[in-house]
Amino acid sequence: MTGNEELFARAQRVIPGGVDSPVRAYGSVGGTPRFLTSAAGAYVTDADGRRYVDLVASWGPALLGHAHPEVVEAVVAAARRGLSFGAPTPAEAELAELIATRVPGVEKVRLVSTGTEATMTAIRLARGATGRDLLVKFAGHYHGHSDGLLAAAGSGLATFALPGSAGVPGAVAAQTLVVPYNDLGALEQAFAAHPGRIAAVITEAAAANMGVVPPAPGFTAALRDLAHREGALLISDEVLTGFRAAAGGYAQVLRDAGEPVAADLVTFGKVIGGGLPVAAVAGRADLMDLLAPLGPVYQAGTLSGNPVAVAAGLATLRLADDAVYAALASAADTLSGAVADALSAAGVPHVVQRAGTLFSVFFGATIEAGVPDYATAQRQDAAAYARFFHAMLDAGVSLPPSAFEAWFVTAAHDEDVLSRVIDALPGAARAAAAAA
Ligand SMILES: Cc1ncc(COP(=O)(O)O)c(C=O)c1O
Repeated sequence: MTGNEELFARAQRVIPGGVDSPVRAYGSVGGTPRFLTSAAGAYVTDADGRRYVDLVASWGPALLGHAHPEVVEAVVAAARRGLSFGAPTPAEAELAELIATRVPGVEKVRLVSTGTEATMTAIRLARGATGRDLLVKFAGHYHGHSDGLLAAAGSGLATFALPGSAGVPGAVAAQTLVVPYNDLGALEQAFAAHPGRIAAVITEAAAANMGVVPPAPGFTAALRDLAHREGALLISDEVLTGFRAAAGGYAQVLRDAGEPVAADLVTFGKVIGGGLPVAAVAGRADLMDLLAPLGPVYQAGTLSGNPVAVAAGLATLRLADDAVYAALASAADTLSGAVADALSAAGVPHVVQRAGTLFSVFFGATIEAGVPDYATAQRQDAAAYARFFHAMLDAGVSLPPSAFEAWFVTAAHDEDVLSRVIDALPGAARAAAAAA
């Protein structure tokens, strides 16, 4: 048995499925998950001492590459000053200011610990502000694992082909209306069917949990206009895209494309914690001030704004300058182009989709015309992806262990790193092409 196999067997005896978050279990690609012991820059190392180029980046947070020395130093310095106070600290306002200055429409910010908490709080705020109960979400969008948000939620549920989750009361599920993404007509119908009852529409700023599926041009602005016309709020979930798709998140990508959309509420996570648990709900001051202690909408957290986590986030955002985003964009251009070339050369039908510096690759003849929504994403050839994934892994490249995830580059993915990935592509493309 390898070290990974031994560790997996041991973990399975005491941890359900051997993992603390389902997609890590390699369920859809098969094989033994790599148990990681360290990470630096663009590389991760497993329990057998094997090093891989990492294209998971902790599912987004590692914007600068793993264990960036200045971020680690900031964390160590903060830890020395104390691990947790349960009282306000100076750095929290600084992080909130940084977020507010970079993202259009954000006036106030409340720090929480996970993206799940952030979206949960945003929805409670929207309900508190409008006095309405219903929520609209898009099929294939993932907003964390709170009860009302697991219907057609992409990501881990898609990986395991689960329709939703057991344990969600029917009365709670009934408060969430699910409509197809990029389909304004379906959204109009939802509003028409429930007049005056919809509190908010929540959308990933660009969908990235069913593979990368950007909003069609004009869709996000039309969505906001429709929601506002109907007295509902727009919640833009930038937990994954925030400070990653571009410096100002996907809102900036839209603005640069001539479609400025300031959402009423925005959620963040991942990059703003730089690898430690920080997330945020943010938005218009009049809405945010409905939160306790100022307003009637309750939200709290023992570890919210934890000083060590905030230090990691602050250091990461301070270092995330134009050069970092240029490096990310260039790595995404190079890699997405090289993957497409290798797959075409091997005759593997595919489509690469982009959202700012994010991209993913869909395999299969049925999706070649493009993937606008979840129904199409589900028609991809997940078995071809599994073969491709394992060939890349064998060649020393760690991709997301699911066909429904974005590929994450970091500012540490320089030419040398990318050339290692590019060298592995032809063999993996041939593996994908081979019959199962
Ligand atoms: C768009 C989006 N929203 C919310 C979440 C939930 O965040 P967390 O895993 O920190 O609870 C995720 C996690 O992947 C996400 O991608």
